[in-house]
Amino acid sequence: MNAMRVVFCCTGTKAQPWLDGLRAALPNADVSEWQAGAPSADYAVVWAPPQQFLDEQTALKALFNIGAGVDALMKLQLPPRVPVVRLDDAGMSVQMAEYVCHAVIRYFREFDGYAADVATGKWSYRKPNLREDFPIGVLGLGVLGQRVCAALAQFDFPVRGWSRSAKTVPGVQCFSGRAGLTEFLAASRILVCLVPLTPETENILNKDTLGRLLPGAYLINVARGGHLVDDDLIALLESGHLAGATLDVFREEPLPPTDRFWRHPKITLTPHTSARTLRDESISQIAGKIAQLESGAPIASLAGVVDPQKGY
Ligand SMILES: NC(=O)c1ccc[n+]([C@@H]2O[C@H](COP(=O)([O-])OP(=O)(O)OC[C@H]3O[C@@H](n4cnc5c(N)ncnc54)[C@H](OP(=O)(O)O)[C@@H]3O)[C@@H](O)[C@H]2O)c1
Repeated sequence: MNAMRVVFCCTGTKAQPWLDGLRAALPNADVSEWQAGAPSADYAVVWAPPQQFLDEQTALKALFNIGAGVDALMKLQLPPRVPVVRLDDAGMSVQMAEYVCHAVIRYFREFDGYAADVATGKWSYRKPNLREDFPIGVLGLGVLGQRVCAALAQFDFPVRGWSRSAKTVPGVQCFSGRAGLTEFLAASRILVCLVPLTPETENILNKDTLGRLLPGAYLINVARGGHLVDDDLIALLESGHLAGATLDVFREEPLPPTDRFWRHPKITLTPHTSARTLRDESISQIAGKIAQLESGAPIASLAGVVDPQKGY
């Protein structure tokens, strides 16, 4: 019997450590880096593969994406009937919780104000903010959104969440669908974006939605740059309706050197680093799912299978 074949095709990723890790986790598999013209493997591990890869790998039993977001992959022509499986946490949710809590607490405790005072040798107290004046709204109640909500609730912030389908999440006031969005936004002072980028959520952070937040609001975008209408953010920061924004993701990455976001005094930016793919955790998750499929488990029983209709 031929060994199961696993092909690796991840643009911008050093292949060797992944190949070594996948070989160690799947000792009976033939694991190789993709070469153009190679016959189709049984499973693929991908990040931003070229269209040629997808055109050639037509006999895959599953395509594993080494990230949580599949927006870039879904824009390509995928081989018909090949299920796409994304990372399901794999060490990302705790990083996302750290990042968002850091940004929220920095705003809530006015650490920038203290830093400015210290820089001028000034010892001065600020009036403590009230948690009830800082309700937090999290767009997206998936794997990452729910972990972020739980972490924020630990600090006693009022937490609201918004998802496509109606949900009950302990400690979170839940809203759903377009009908629930207006009320959700009007009750949020800090907005955290953690929905996947799909045709339905593209440009969802715009003058209308951001304009509905409580005055002096903050935006934390850790999902995708395509969610945000950049000009609308600048206008709302300039009008004072928004007090600040923390952005980890951008329409064009790396952010071009001339972009006005770099030097805007109310914008804090990081280079798409809020929740990194952790290699060992990801390999172990993917290898575990391959083993499940090989032992006859139906694809629908796996966590993280992408619904092509919904696009996430
Ligand atoms: N910056 C980074 O480093 C980084 C790292 C990892 C991930 N991300 C981003 O984070 C996103 C979320 O990841 P995840 O693992 O939490 O995804 P997930 O588990 O698929 O959760 C997505 C959530 O968004 C909701 N949603 C999707 N479309 C919606 C719509 N049209 N209206 C309302 N709610 C909608 C879903 O609602 P339902 O529950 O009803 O389906 C779900 O609650 C990824 O897609 C990726 O873009 C960024």
